[in-house]
Order: sequence, then structure tokens, then C-alpha cells
Amino acid sequence: MAADPPARPPLDPSRLATQLGRHGNRLRIEVLPESPSTNAELADRARAGAPEGTVVVAEHQTAGRGRLGRGWDTPARAALTVSVLLRPDLPAVRWPWLPLLTGYAVARTLRRSGFDAGLKWPNDVLVRGRKVCGILLERVEARPTTAATPAAVLGIGLNTTLTAEELPPTGTSLWLESGTPPTEPDRTALLAELLTTLLDEYDAWRSAPDDAALRAAYAGACTTLGREVRVELPAGGPLVGDAVDIDPDGRLVVRGPDGPVAVGVGDVVHVRPASGSWEVRRG
Ligand code: BTN
Repeated sequence: MAADPPARPPLDPSRLATQLGRHGNRLRIEVLPESPSTNAELADRARAGAPEGTVVVAEHQTAGRGRLGRGWDTPARAALTVSVLLRPDLPAVRWPWLPLLTGYAVARTLRRSGFDAGLKWPNDVLVRGRKVCGILLERVEARPTTAATPAAVLGIGLNTTLTAEELPPTGTSLWLESGTPPTEPDRTALLAELLTTLLDEYDAWRSAPDDAALRAAYAGACTTLGREVRVELPAGGPLVGDAVDIDPDGRLVVRGPDGPVAVGVGDVVHVRPASGSWEVRRG
């Protein structure tokens, strides 16, 4: 028997506010019925000096931005498309860990909800080897007329109820991964849990003297490690080898034919399917 199509109810802003718990007073969340891109919207606000904790959610994102210049569009209320503004008072050399931290927080949230989520470096969240969430971090300088420090706009696109017909073959959604018959995730509760976990991880990271604890936690969740990978490098490539480590700057270390190479940007393909399992080394 065919499964009922998902109903896709709207987010409930008042329930969201009550479910945010300890971080509720740090967040200013706006749910827009439609937006071309929550990252573009929040970047404009960041340039104008919007404070840390500003969050923009779109029920329907129509021209979303993806990594490496790609797009990211989803049907109305079939995903969580959300951008979070942070202003980390940390040296720029530590910023590359922010997108990895965000992916880690999403994977952790999903695992707490019972999904077998893992990370494909740098920050694709996979369930059973298929991508359920993409993350795009954009650094934004404030206008000189504001006193604001540089902002990180963390964009998260989490597929909640997309159907197989609405997804590329490499993608999946929580609805599709929920069992038989599929059940719809409660997007309001999920968003509250995601924002709570993200801020917990952010607080732990920025109060730590360095990135070592996050590096260990991330490596434990990263299903790319230990696999043979093919990396499409922006300048040249591909590089084929074994993914052996995450270096102190968050780069993937691939042992290729000419020895280890630390990769900072690029598209990674797991040559053999990922299991999605991870080893939790923290918390
Ligand atoms: C990727 O290519 O994997 C990253 C996709 C990031 C998409 C999210 S959806 C919310 C936010 N707004 C955007 O325009 N992009 C990000």
C-alpha cells in the first residue's frame, strides 16, 4: 500500500519559543512565509549590524544558496531552511571549524531523534549514506558605520519530508528514513532541538582554549575517515586516496599516491558506501 503523502503543516512560532528552553532569551527568530535565500536575507541584516542570535527561517525558500556555487531549493514546508547569525569573538584562524561544528550539531540532533546520522567531510549530514542536510557558512563584514564585528551566517537546509521524486538520487529526507509507514517529523520540535544543540556546541567550542575537543568529537562522527575517497579539488584534481585524519585546521587529510595531502575545500565522494555509524567521543 502506498504511503500517505506528508501533510507538511507550518511551523508553530509560539510553541517554538516555549521549546527553546535555556537559550530562548539569546535568539530572535523570524519565520518568513517565503524567501529567496535565508542566508542572503540574514547576510543583509548582518551587514546592517543585527546581533548574534538573529535567526531567519523560511517556510519556502525559492533561490537557496548551496556550497561551491550550487543552488538549494525545496518545496514549501518540506524542509527546515534556516540561517543563524553568530559573531564569534575568536581569531579568524579558528573560523573554519564553524561549518564543521554546525554539521556536528545537526548530526547529533538527528541521532538523538533516532536517525543513524553521520558526517561526510566537511559538513554534509548523511543518513544511510544519503544526504539529508547541507550547510553553507558565509562570513559577512559589517558596514563601517556599524560597530559590529564580523558575522558568521550559518545556513542549514534539512530535508524533513521531501519525497523520493523531489530529491536527487543521492539525497534523502527524515520522512523517508523514518520507517514503514513513514512518519512526519515535528519540524517545530526539531528546530528547537537543533538550535539548542547548536548553541550548546558553540558555547563549548568558543570557551575552549583551542579546537582539540571539537576536532575529536567531529572525527568520531565523520564517516569519511577510514574510507577510500575521491576529492574533486577546485583547482585541478581529482585526488583519490584514503581519508586518514582531520587536521588541526579542520582539513581532511587524504593519503594519495604522492603521500598525505590536507584538503581545505572540495567535493568528496565516498568510493565505497558509507555506513553512517560513528563513535561518540564526547558528551
Ligand atoms: C550545500 O550545498 O550542501 C549547502 C546547502 C545549504 C542550504 C541552506 S538552506 C538555508 C540557507 N539559506 C541558503 O540560501 N542556503 C542555506
